Amino acid sequence: MNPHHSARTAHRPGALVGLAVTTLLFCTAVRAAAPADLLSTYVSQAGQPAAASRGEPFFTQRHGKEWSCSTCHGAVPVQGGKHASTGKPIEPLAPSANGKRFTDPAKTEKWFRRNCNDVVGRECSPAEKADVLAWLLSLNP
Ligand code: HEC
Repeated sequence: MNPHHSARTAHRPGALVGLAVTTLLFCTAVRAAAPADLLSTYVSQAGQPAAASRGEPFFTQRHGKEWSCSTCHGAVPVQGGKHASTGKPIEPLAPSANGKRFTDPAKTEKWFRRNCNDVVGRECSPAEKADVLAWLLSLNP
């Protein structure tokens, strides 16, 4: 009998349960933390706290151009939207309704840049991004 071998066998179920629990916790943490982490980044870049109350009008109102953010994303972004020119459906922007949102900073930045240029005619400032994200994070389906 090889004591080393039997010890490993005996420990395996416990190790597997431990691994499963760790994986579960890790996934939950990553999902919940990523949009909040991005919000902290924008807030520290802005040097002021985020306000969901400023984010909502920024998102739903026009800024001297043809479209608002809501034109494509809807005024209630826990629901899906529709692209203003192509008519393609857009998945909800609020993280509570769409777990993929604000989990890939490069993607988020790319679309902020593009959409802010379309709607505001310039890039959004860190304060504006923080306000919009704070508002989106406050929405529940
Ligand atoms: C002309 C249509 C259109 C307008 C107007 C628009 N968006 Fe978007 N937005 C899109 C599309 C298309 C995508 C990319 C497809 C997707 O992710 O569903 C996108 C994606 C995004 C994302 C990426 C989120 C992520 O991390 O997945 C953010 C942030 C965003 N938009 C914010 C805004 C803001 C803020 C405004 C207003 C300043 C705005 N959008 C206006 C069409 C639009």
